[in-house]
Parts: sequence; C-alpha cells; structure tokens
Amino acid sequence: MRIRRARPTDIPALERLEHELYTEDLVDADEWAYHLANPAHEVWLYEDGRGLLADLLLTARAASTNLRIEGIAVAKRAQGKGYGKRLIDQAKRRAKARGKARITLEVRRDNARAVKVYRDAGFRIVGSLPGYYEDGGDAVRMLYPLRGSSAFG
Ligand SMILES: CC(C)(COP(=O)(O)OP(=O)(O)OC[C@H]1O[C@@H](n2cnc3c(N)ncnc32)[C@H](O)[C@@H]1OP(=O)(O)O)[C@@H](O)C(=O)NCCC(=O)NCCS
Repeated sequence: MRIRRARPTDIPALERLEHELYTEDLVDADEWAYHLANPAHEVWLYEDGRGLLADLLLTARAASTNLRIEGIAVAKRAQGKGYGKRLIDQAKRRAKARGKARITLEVRRDNARAVKVYRDAGFRIVGSLPGYYEDGGDAVRMLYPLRGSSAFG
C-alpha cells in the first residue's frame, strides 16, 4: 500500500472521514482546501479500491524547528492494521526531509489508543493542556526528537 499526497479532488473524502470519526473540532472542506494550498502544510493519505483509508495532516512553519502533526485519522474499517504507525513513520520522514529538529502534537488525554500509538512510535508526553478542545476536554502535548535526546528536557 503506497502513501500519496492529497489533492483537491480528495477533499470530499477527507471531509467524510472527519464526520465518520469526530463530532467536534472537525476539519471542514474550506480548511482542507487551505491546507492543500499552503506549501508549509502537507496532507498525506492511504486509499484502496473502496476509497480513503487514512490521512495525516502536517504543518511546518519555516520559522519553526518543529514539524507539527495536526491530525491522524484512520477509517473504522482500517483501524488496528498499522496505518496509524505508518502515518507517524511518514511524519518522521517528512520532518527529516524538511530539516526539523522535532515533531510535536496535541492529543486528547483520554484517547488511550492514540496516546499508545504515539508512545510506541517514540513520542513522550511533555505537557498538559487543560480545556484545550471545544468541549472543554484536556489535551496532552507529545514530542518526538529527531536530533539528540535532549529535547525531552
Ligand atoms: C488512533 C488511531 C489514529 C490509531 O490508528 P490505527 O491504525 O488504528 O493504529 P495501529 O493499527 O497503528 O495501532 C493500534 C494500536 O492501539 C492498540 N489499541 C487499540 N484499542 C486501544 C485502546 N482502546 N486503548 C489502548 N490501545 C488500544 C492496538 O492494540 C494497537 O497496538 P499494538 O500495535 O501494540 O497491537 C486510529 O484508531 C484513529 O484514527 N482513531 C480515531 C481518530 C483519532 O483518535 N485520531 C488521533 C487523534 S490526532
């Protein structure tokens, strides 16, 4: 299964997957269009003959030494098959390609599955963000260092 960069024609499928997985903080069609048009942002995806399986949204501001994982989404029919891990591996490759020093992300504190997938990929919890989400839910900040290990502090 090959990963590929998303195109504007993928926006309806990207939006459908948001609705399949989330009830709040969804990325809508206008936001996907914005991300696809922004050279500092990257959207990657896996698909099969039936459609979108999983997507990854990255942001990388030129002034920052961080690559940010804004979101990872795996369709229910494809969960538990390693796509989450593969998308994180892609984020690591893209961070190296862009010369970034670390990858950061925020994830719901109570999303045990996502936290486990990130931990297994070498990320560590480095901060807590109470009330980070629209519904008042808490986030944790996680970090993966690409150069040295001092970034864990
Ligand atoms: C979280 C998510 C990205 C993980 O992707 P995935 O492709 O299903 O993950 P993988 O197949 O790579 O790995 C799943 C791991 O989680 C484990 N797991 C499954 N359910 C779990 C749970 N409720 N609690 C803890 N771990 C769980 C599996 O056992 C597996 O671990 P293993 O490899 O040691 O067996 C995916 O489930 C998803 O899109 N969920 C909904 C959206 C979301 O929460 N996104 C993350 C926020 S950015």
